[in-house]
Amino acid sequence: MVTLKQVKESSLVKQYMDLGNAYIGNIGAIEHNISHAELSAELCSHILTKLGYSEREAELGRIAGYLHDIGNLVNRYGHGMSGALIAFSILLDLGMDPEEIAVIMGAIGNHEENSGGRPVNNVGAALILADKSDVHRSRVRKRDFAVFTPRDRVNYAVTESKLLVDEKNRLITMKIQIDTCVCSVIEYFEIFLTKMLMSRRAAEFLECQFELLINDNKLL
Ligand SMILES: [Fe+2]
Ligand SMILES: [Fe+2]
Repeated sequence: MVTLKQVKESSLVKQYMDLGNAYIGNIGAIEHNISHAELSAELCSHILTKLGYSEREAELGRIAGYLHDIGNLVNRYGHGMSGALIAFSILLDLGMDPEEIAVIMGAIGNHEENSGGRPVNNVGAALILADKSDVHRSRVRKRDFAVFTPRDRVNYAVTESKLLVDEKNRLITMKIQIDTCVCSVIEYFEIFLTKMLMSRRAAEFLECQFELLINDNKLL
């Protein structure tokens, strides 16, 4: 059975992920580097394991988490869908079972809120939660505040973010600390809303409730 270790050993994967991140860097997008891939991989498998899904499903979550932004190589817009197709070819070459490839393709192809992404399977739901919770100041590449997009501000404002999984109460909590000099809690919530609604839907898919805490204020 194909593991994340094998995926990581592919020189093509590393090369395409690095190039994709460099390309979108050239147009000012936030960091989508290997540490975002690794964080998403670990968090995705952690969510699935904690909620009682099988070890294999958690490993598929790890692989989906690692590869989910590989489509940035093609274009930032629609990178979920192009990424799913790139993952298809990589995983097929590694000899992965077609049913497992399908799980990963569905997950990657549905992780973006602005291309109609919806949780279509357990791995995909965990991937949405893992990906959306990696918000942090360190991901913003721009240095000039005047040219920040809302996405830059959403990330720049965050000094700490955590995703807590309470398996007993089936509750998933996103806990964010923001610097209110960058934006207010309400302003932040407004910009972040579509991502959070997507996260809530993902939690519901995993039969959990979703809670959002910003500077200890419960907003969802
Ligand atoms: Fe993405
Ligand atoms: Fe991502």
